[in-house]
Amino acid sequence: MKKAKLILDKDYAIAKIDPRIYGSFVEHLGRCVYTGIYEPGHPAADREGFRTDVLELVRELKVPIVRYPGGNFVSGFRWEDSVGPAEKRPKRLDLAWKTTEPNTFGLHEFASWAKKAKTDVMYAVNLGTRGPADAQALVEYANHRGGSAWSDLRIQNGAKDPFDIKLWCLGNEMDGPWQTGHKTALEYGRIANEAAKMMKWTDDTIELVACGSSSSEMPTFGSWEYTVLSECYENVDYVSLHRYYGNPHNDTPDFLASTMDLDNFIRTVASICDSVKGKLHSSKKLGLSLDEYNVWYHSNAQDQELYRRKPWGTALPLLEDVYNFEDALLVGLMLITILKNADRVRIACMAQLVNVIAPIMTRPGGGAWAQTIYWPLQQASTLGRGTSLLPQLTCGKQDTAHYTDVPEVDTAAVLREDGSLVIFAVNRDLKEPVELDLDLRAFGNFRTGFHSVLHHDDVKAVNTEAEPGNVVPRDVSFEVGDGKVLLPAASWNVIRLQF
Ligand code: AHR
Repeated sequence: MKKAKLILDKDYAIAKIDPRIYGSFVEHLGRCVYTGIYEPGHPAADREGFRTDVLELVRELKVPIVRYPGGNFVSGFRWEDSVGPAEKRPKRLDLAWKTTEPNTFGLHEFASWAKKAKTDVMYAVNLGTRGPADAQALVEYANHRGGSAWSDLRIQNGAKDPFDIKLWCLGNEMDGPWQTGHKTALEYGRIANEAAKMMKWTDDTIELVACGSSSSEMPTFGSWEYTVLSECYENVDYVSLHRYYGNPHNDTPDFLASTMDLDNFIRTVASICDSVKGKLHSSKKLGLSLDEYNVWYHSNAQDQELYRRKPWGTALPLLEDVYNFEDALLVGLMLITILKNADRVRIACMAQLVNVIAPIMTRPGGGAWAQTIYWPLQQASTLGRGTSLLPQLTCGKQDTAHYTDVPEVDTAAVLREDGSLVIFAVNRDLKEPVELDLDLRAFGNFRTGFHSVLHHDDVKAVNTEAEPGNVVPRDVSFEVGDGKVLLPAASWNVIRLQF
């Protein structure tokens, strides 16, 4: 039997966890909004056209923030198109996704949906084709009480109270040549700084995220962050990171090792932030916002075909990755990596929420169901609140095609405010279980506990509308007091201990 040992001590903490690491993302892309969260006429739609079956699944995820309205979409978006009487709003070509945006769902609708979903809005402004003045006008429209042209327009459009949006992204992936209005680091850093000043002068309670690299594989990664932050460091609060992984060559051990790259990405960005801090003699420590992460590759070929057949359509089934069990394991590993970097990662958004590379799927006029990747996020978000503890883990290591010394097991541990301890663990070994020996030192003996396991014998197993319970977590028996937990081969585990 393979063995691993985990030492945890209450006093060895990484950081208090910012709940916003369990965020998500809704973009005007594919069927995320239209026939995803919003489908007037659907049997489960409420008076505003929001699908209540989807709302229920979202509320169970307990996502504290949802980033909106893009993504690549935002870099060509005029926010004014999305407010006022719906029948008067213009249809626009969306150059980012080669579709037609009807604008029948906009800022007011999203703010109302977010309230029903019990989440906060993280809003991205367009710094691609637009600039600081448009971003300032939007903050005034959304957050100013009244008595100015933009805030009075909001009131006239039916929202007496400000939306009070606290978290804003200064554009999206401005390092990417695919972005409308793509910029060099210096161009973007200057614009981000001016937008940041004007947005904060309008509302000094808001926080701002500057665009970092859209992947650790970008040729400009590193120099981009350094140049951008040198321009705007004092006026922003976070820098973003985006990261998606795939398994196109069907090499599961290598795929499951991808979080070695994620960990390195996070640590490198943190050190660049600190080097700019040093250069500027600043006393401020910047946080990180991993505001897009997930698995994304299953739908690539299908999307190319869709574009060929239906350019400029609306609510096309784009980026509809059907996630399998190994994807859920990687998402679990990504959440563990985020928790282990909780001192720097203050915000993280699974991209996206519904239909588009999403944990939740819907059928137009039909059902809504949870994909495999829903479960690690749901369990981490529900139980992983409190303080992230330093996991001292000893276990076997393996090499894969792209990574060396990949630990067979990865863990994160959370000390909750109610005094209970929650351990998240993934056994990467596809064939053998690992016995995890818990050394809990100052915690003493625990009284009760539970162990939940997400496992399927077939790593390619998926959930469907007809079979939504194929890959779901199950409680397994747990021997109180022996301090040993069996992690089945290829499994995501949640262990909760009460003292
Ligand atoms: O989430 C899908 C897309 O991925 C987003 O629009 C973009 O920001 C990223 O490239």
